[in-house]
Amino acid sequence: MGLYEQHILPRLIDVVCGDRSFGWWRAEASEGLGGTVLEIGFGSGLNLPHYPEQVERVLAVEPSTVARKRAASRMRAAPVQVDFIGLDGESIPAEDDSVDAALCTFTLCTIPDVDRALAEIRRVVRPGGEFRFLEHGLAPDAGVARWQYRLDGIEQRLAGGCHLTRDPLELISRAGMDVTASRSAFARGPRPWTYLTVGRAVA
Ligand SMILES: C[S@@+](CC[C@H](N)C(=O)[O-])C[C@H]1O[C@@H](n2cnc3c(N)ncnc32)[C@H](O)[C@@H]1O
Repeated sequence: MGLYEQHILPRLIDVVCGDRSFGWWRAEASEGLGGTVLEIGFGSGLNLPHYPEQVERVLAVEPSTVARKRAASRMRAAPVQVDFIGLDGESIPAEDDSVDAALCTFTLCTIPDVDRALAEIRRVVRPGGEFRFLEHGLAPDAGVARWQYRLDGIEQRLAGGCHLTRDPLELISRAGMDVTASRSAFARGPRPWTYLTVGRAVA
């Protein structure tokens, strides 16, 4: 991995994904969570301020050393205990049915074998537990989607493998989970990147 991917990109992601306009979306994604929550693609810990106080422990999976270091101050400020347990959502070092819920924000777009990661989430979340998600994805508007397909290759090269054309609801359903609630809308910012979907699925 080069200097850009290792050192610059995680800092850029921290700034871009840390935009205040995403705060409401993040709060909606984690509303009502409790117990032990697995967060895949923990990044720099931008969801921590939004976890409800009922969350007792966060098990974090995150490959980027720089992102994990940038999370340190947020972890100190958070009332919840965070333990880094792994580096790759495609292979989560946790027992079957061992967490109450899982959370993924702006990460299903990037994990190379996303089907495998979703199968891992299903395996680790206890029966009846929820998978919560907040993702950008393929827009329903033909004009925006055309630009998303045009820009997809450049995006993958510049943004660490991020795809603009994945459909999170389709991926989650394909993984055998039932989406029980979801809301999609354009957030502030350039449209190929800002068609967001927040929701819940039962694993
Ligand atoms: C766009 S960032 C989002 C970070 C954070 N979830 C947020 O909402 O701010 C995508 C994150 O996925 C992580 N990631 C990339 N490949 C991954 C993998 N195979 N398993 C888990 N996380 C991965 C990246 O290191 C990065 O932190």
